[in-house]
Amino acid sequence: MTKIAQTNAHVIDAVAHRWSPRAFTDKSVKAVDLKSILEAARWAASAYNEQPWRYIVATRDNEAEFNKLLGVLVEANQAWAKGAQVLMLSLAKKTYTYNGSNNRHAWHDVGMADAQLSLQASALGIATHWMAGFDGEKARDVYNIPDEFEPVAALAIGYEGDPETLPEGYRKAEVAPRERKTHDQLFFTGSFGQPTKL
Ligand SMILES: Cc1cc2nc3c(=O)[nH]c(=O)nc-3n(C[C@H](O)[C@H](O)[C@H](O)COP(=O)(O)O)c2cc1C
Repeated sequence: MTKIAQTNAHVIDAVAHRWSPRAFTDKSVKAVDLKSILEAARWAASAYNEQPWRYIVATRDNEAEFNKLLGVLVEANQAWAKGAQVLMLSLAKKTYTYNGSNNRHAWHDVGMADAQLSLQASALGIATHWMAGFDGEKARDVYNIPDEFEPVAALAIGYEGDPETLPEGYRKAEVAPRERKTHDQLFFTGSFGQPTKL
């Protein structure tokens, strides 16, 4: 039930095929593929090459670690993310290492790494679903996250599954069409809000 993006211009397959399912199969993600997914994040661009991203990774084969990360998610996300094969949490280092000043692009750069990670997964036919719904303070506590780091987003990874396996409240969204703002709402030239002619 891949929900390929209906794009107005050509995009690479990894972009068109990436979407955020909640239903996953029980097929495990091979270590070699997981390593590729992490490697894609490692090679993201970042301000001053700070590479402010860090990731906590929990695979299903380590039940205790998987449940530990699952327990950090809000209940509404636990309900479906428990079917994923891998859970992750991205973290941002808030300051530049070279001078200790505030890195106001830290979250941007973690987003860059997160996006590369998702696109690498997509190219491998593996689905990713990011989540804001987690308890950051609990994560800090459970994983001994130092003060200079901040949890950014949680992630569920696996192979896209059958929507019918989801709890009832999630099935409709799983098959609903994907929606996006229009080109004119997003891309401007000359002045804010003035659509680019492109
Ligand atoms: C940072 C971030 C936080 C999100 N938080 C949640 C979440 O807590 N729970 C959830 O079910 N989906 C969450 N999503 C998934 C979005 O709802 C989804 O990406 C969006 O609807 C677009 O759909 P698509 O990814 O299938 O294109 C999140 C996505 C991102 C990028």
